[in-house]
Amino acid sequence: MLTIDATKPAGLVSPRLYGLMTEEINFSYDGGLYGELIRNRAFLDQAEKPEYWAPIQEEGSTVTLTLDKAQPLNQQIPLSLRLDATKVAGGKQVGLANSGYWGIPVTPHTAYRASFFAKSTAAYAGEVTLSIESDDGQKTFATGKVDGLAAGWKRYEVVLTTGDITPTAQARFAVRLNQTGTVWFSFVSLFPPTWNDRPNGLRKDLMQLLVDLKPKFLRFPGGNYLEGNTVAERFQWKKTLGPISQRPGHPCPWGYRSTDGMGLLEFLQWTEDMGAEPVLAVYAGYSLGGETVKVGPDLAPFVQDAIDEIEYLTGDAATTTWGAQRAKDGHPAPFPLHYVEIGNEDNFDKGNTYDARFTQFFDAIKTKYPALKCISTIAAREPENQRVRSRQPDVIDEHFYDTVEAFYQKATSQYENYDRKGPEIFVGEWAAYETAFQPWDKRSAGEPPTPNLRAALGDAAFMTDMERNSDVVVMHCYAPLFVNVNPGGRQWRPNLIGYDALRSFVSPSYHAIQMFSTHIGDQILKVAQTETPLIVSATRATATGEIYLKIVNPKPAAEPVTINLQGMPKVAATGTAIVMAAPSTEATNTIDTPAVVRPQTSTISGVHSGFVFSVPGNGIVVLILKPE
Ligand code: AHR
Repeated sequence: MLTIDATKPAGLVSPRLYGLMTEEINFSYDGGLYGELIRNRAFLDQAEKPEYWAPIQEEGSTVTLTLDKAQPLNQQIPLSLRLDATKVAGGKQVGLANSGYWGIPVTPHTAYRASFFAKSTAAYAGEVTLSIESDDGQKTFATGKVDGLAAGWKRYEVVLTTGDITPTAQARFAVRLNQTGTVWFSFVSLFPPTWNDRPNGLRKDLMQLLVDLKPKFLRFPGGNYLEGNTVAERFQWKKTLGPISQRPGHPCPWGYRSTDGMGLLEFLQWTEDMGAEPVLAVYAGYSLGGETVKVGPDLAPFVQDAIDEIEYLTGDAATTTWGAQRAKDGHPAPFPLHYVEIGNEDNFDKGNTYDARFTQFFDAIKTKYPALKCISTIAAREPENQRVRSRQPDVIDEHFYDTVEAFYQKATSQYENYDRKGPEIFVGEWAAYETAFQPWDKRSAGEPPTPNLRAALGDAAFMTDMERNSDVVVMHCYAPLFVNVNPGGRQWRPNLIGYDALRSFVSPSYHAIQMFSTHIGDQILKVAQTETPLIVSATRATATGEIYLKIVNPKPAAEPVTINLQGMPKVAATGTAIVMAAPSTEATNTIDTPAVVRPQTSTISGVHSGFVFSVPGNGIVVLILKPE
């Protein structure tokens, strides 16, 4: 029996409870959310050769492609690609082709924006043809031309529009010349239509999935991606501003190079486009490989960088340096900001320097921005000598990657007894995993990239705990958010949302989060349980009086349960049930079978205090009960 105490709230639900965490991992941005379709657009991925680019030599024609440091595009992009068209047979062409991030996605009646920088020797007077074509070059999906290349660098842009074609990712982008000569290329780019039509924008299908979660915040830019493997490889936000053709990118700690097309402003616009607010993580002088910046004068420039970054987000466009820069970059209005996270997982700093580093950042931030809440990255469960002691952090970020069984334990015990006088809690990364291997373990290469129903049950169980205790758990977010499911695309598992170049799908855990995040009140209601192994939480919306009862049944058998509504004498006889369940907990979604596990919504009748609802086995349920 479940008895919901609707006489009075047991606490208030945090208004920011459900959000998102993001970083460059699993090709989350490049080859994922970021719209760019060309891989290695600035030719900087590899020092020796133009990786992911192939020569095109039509019959009887020859071409060579070489990286050329003598002809840089600008200071930031210190080389270009030299194309020598040494022989072009009559009516034939030579050129270069890029197969994108595991293919170029092509859809019918779609306009693609192709652009490139080029310069040529006077000897080249021919045309440049741009095409999106099948990966064997036999079929052209869209094409356009440019002529009049000049001796100096110039940017060219052509819109390529497809006709009535069948969608495919077995396609490549080709640049062809029809005469002999030498041409240098740089920053070759191809964008499909993007969310809100932003020129340097985001992939539409993935954005829709995020918006559908109604996230209240976005924690960025990481994660390990914030820290980098070394201090030099940290996320340097100042280098990510301005025109993308002046962003060299940097090595990301997950084994590939990031273009930095997703720069600070793009993160902020992404947040804004979702109706969410930023939770800004600032680099705090510790990098993954173990390098730390010495506290004191050495750390001071990094602290100043964080202060500047906060000013970039929040400063007045007319009176502050970095607010003016933001306006120059195209966004005069400041962004809302309430939380700043100082570093990431600083418990890995074996020198235990976080207390002193946190203090230096905290004091500077509080002096200039007293209203901002500072988040410590060391969990309350870590040894005292690692934790922040010299200052009281406003919030503590705790991360949980653990087995489904461990998540069931957390479901009843993680935050029930947390000291309400202590710092607020931000569960900034969490995910239940269903197999024996740790998420980063190479031996898990054959595992599915996204979680199955068993993991989703564990995730939902833990979410009930965070929701019941959301007077103190002010925010939480699953991680990682994204995975490119192509071979070589994944460095971690499980992940919430999967995709290839053309298609995307969501995991059962995504559905569980969406069921929870889109049905949440502002008051926490206590639920007394007798003789039931169910895991539950209840909230009520003051504005409508609706009650949202979430129930997780981890057992395979259905469980009929009596639901009493104490203090709610007039309940509407009709309610709504959203149910996600499957006979086997191994059930999962994949890129080819995306809808195996998904919630079903139905109307329930005969609702009254004491009604019986049968919770399906392996089931996650949200009941919406309305006042009469
Ligand atoms: O989410 C993957 C990684 O897990 C994050 O980068 C890091 O913060 C954590 O260890």
